[in-house]
Amino acid sequence: MDTEIYYFTGTGNSLQIAKDLAEQLENAQIIQINSRLMESGKLISADRTGIIFPVYVSGIPVIVEEFVNCLDISENTYMFAVSNFGGSAGISLAQLDSLLRARGSRLSAAFEIRMPDNTQIMFPPGSPEQQERCFRSQKGMMPEIASIINNRAVNYKENSAVPSRPHDFNPRDMEKNFHFDEKCNSCGICEKVCPVGNIEMNSDGKPEWQGKCELCLACMQWCPEEAIQFGDKTSSWGRYHHPEIKVQELFQK
Ligand SMILES: Cc1cc2nc3c(=O)[nH]c(=O)nc-3n(C[C@H](O)[C@H](O)[C@H](O)COP(=O)(O)O)c2cc1C
Ligand code: SF4
Ligand code: SF4
Repeated sequence: MDTEIYYFTGTGNSLQIAKDLAEQLENAQIIQINSRLMESGKLISADRTGIIFPVYVSGIPVIVEEFVNCLDISENTYMFAVSNFGGSAGISLAQLDSLLRARGSRLSAAFEIRMPDNTQIMFPPGSPEQQERCFRSQKGMMPEIASIINNRAVNYKENSAVPSRPHDFNPRDMEKNFHFDEKCNSCGICEKVCPVGNIEMNSDGKPEWQGKCELCLACMQWCPEEAIQFGDKTSSWGRYHHPEIKVQELFQK
C-alpha cells in the first residue's frame, strides 16, 4: 500500500514531521508542495495521502488550499493531515476537511502538533529550552500517529459548521513589508529557498519580491546574513529554522 505525504514548509517544521512520519509508514514518499509541483499537473492521490502544513492566521496556507482544489482524489483514498503551529490549530483542520468534502472526499485522520513558533514578523523566537520541549514531544507522538495511519483508522470527527478565520489573510498584500538591509551579500539563498519562486535577483544582485508570496518566511528566516527584514522591528529579533533541516532540502528540485 503506497503512502504519499505532501508537505508545505517555510522553516522546516513540517518537513521534519514529514520525514519522521515517513520512516514509520509503509512505502511512504514525501513531496514538497511548491510552485513546480503545482505547475506539473501531477496531483494524483495514492492509497493513503497526507498533507502536513503550518497554520497561518488560524487557517491553512493559500497554496495548500490551491493544492487540495487541484488534487485528483480517488474514491478509496485514505486522507490524513498534520496541522502544526506555535499556539493552536485554529480552524485549519475543519477548513481542510470542508475543502475535501467539496471534492467528494474527507479527512479520515487528523493530528495537531505544537512546534516552535516561526512568526518572527510579530515576535522573537522562543527560548532553546521551549524549542527542545516541542521537538521531544513531536518525536514522541510519531509512533501513535503512524500506527493510526498504517491501520487506516478513523481519527477525525467532522465539524458541523466550519467557522471562518478570525482575521483576513492576504499574504500577497503583506509582502510589500519585506526589504533587505546593508548586510545583504547577494548570495542568492533567498531566491533558491522560496517555495513559489517569488524572489528574483535584480541586476545589482539584490532580491526583488514578485507579488505571489505565501508569507512562509523562508527568505527571511534562512538568509545567512539576517539581512531580510519585515517592517521595522525584525532587525533585532532573532531568526528560527528547524535545527535538523538543511537549507538545501527546501530548494525546489
Ligand atoms: C504568516 C504566519 C502565520 C502564522 N499564524 C499562526 C497562527 O495563527 N497560530 C499558530 O499557532 N501559529 C501560527 N504560525 C506559526 C507556524 O504555524 C508554526 O511555527 C509552524 O510550525 C511553522 O511550520 P514550518 O516550519 O513548516 O513553516 C504562523 C506562522 C506564519 C509564518
Ligand atoms: S539570502 Fe540574504 S544575503 Fe543572500 S541574497 Fe538574499 S537577502 Fe542577500
Ligand atoms: S517571498 Fe519569502 S515569505 Fe514569500 S513565499 Fe517566498 S520565501 Fe516565503
